[in-house]
Amino acid sequence: MSAPQNDVSDWWTTSIIDMAPGQIRLRGHPIQDLIGSITFPQMIWLMTRGDMPSDGQAQLLESALVAAVDHGPQAPSIAVARMSVTCGLGLNGAMANAVNMLDDVHGGAGEQAVELYNSIANAKNNGTTLQQATAEVIDMWQVSRTPFIPGFGHRFHKPEDPRAPRLLSLVDEAAALGIVDGKFADIGRAVQTLMNERKGRPVPMNIDGATAVIYAELGFTGPLARGLFCLSRSVGALSHAWEQMQQGGRNKGPTPPAYRWTYDGPNPIED
Ligand SMILES: CC(C)(COP(=O)(O)OP(=O)(O)OC[C@H]1O[C@@H](n2cnc3c(N)ncnc32)[C@H](O)[C@@H]1OP(=O)(O)O)[C@@H](O)C(=O)NCCC(=O)NCCS
Repeated sequence: MSAPQNDVSDWWTTSIIDMAPGQIRLRGHPIQDLIGSITFPQMIWLMTRGDMPSDGQAQLLESALVAAVDHGPQAPSIAVARMSVTCGLGLNGAMANAVNMLDDVHGGAGEQAVELYNSIANAKNNGTTLQQATAEVIDMWQVSRTPFIPGFGHRFHKPEDPRAPRLLSLVDEAAALGIVDGKFADIGRAVQTLMNERKGRPVPMNIDGATAVIYAELGFTGPLARGLFCLSRSVGALSHAWEQMQQGGRNKGPTPPAYRWTYDGPNPIED
């Protein structure tokens, strides 16, 4: 029995790109109309969402992408990019290793933060106040998943991560102009207030918590929020990997070799 004629073309069905000799269309737009006309953040939105963002939406997306590019060689994603180069990897391998570090605890927490904020938004829709909804969802999260609330807390920036208030102020400006609703900024601030009250000291909203506010305001899902963070941090990983290549250095570990780890295993038994 012969296979239907479209079995091959259907194999990778996509609504992203249409191509024929001499023709490239992305989401229906001829590539030559996009080149020189739209910004990279607009292209990211068009590719991932299918429609064209307004200038205000694209600017807010861009601010989140700008904010997360780098956090220095102590950030595991950046450290691994630099170490990879000293082990002989090319820029692509170094960037791939950096992106692989961005999971629930480092950089990838934005995905969970979007989920958390959406849960609070849904709980609030059921008639409770924002404060009640926030407390309920946080309690549930801590019991059913982990005591650590994604998007909050920082090893280094205390009492405040300088990126968070700036990003929230941009959301406030966009909300005042009607570009976004502003409800996720309220939710992020409500989580912040609750965390600080419960801990008795600041548990600062971090870059994942702040960019998650923007991604939720713009209607990006959690998994896409993580992907966007990876795009942003890739710029830092590329820069550090390239700088390390210029500096040289072979087989660098996480500390200079003179520093040793703490050994707490058994010692040889002496006769
Ligand atoms: C980033 C992180 C690992 C830093 O943790 P840390 O080094 O223990 O942070 P701190 O030393 O400032 O913690 C101070 C206190 O607040 C608590 N705390 C920190 N972040 C917290 C969070 N997100 N949720 C609940 N409690 C938190 C700590 O457990 C600690 O409590 P304790 O003093 O009773 O032991 C942690 O905040 C975390 O896992 N956050 C969630 C994931 C996340 O957003 N990652 C992105 C980081 S940029």
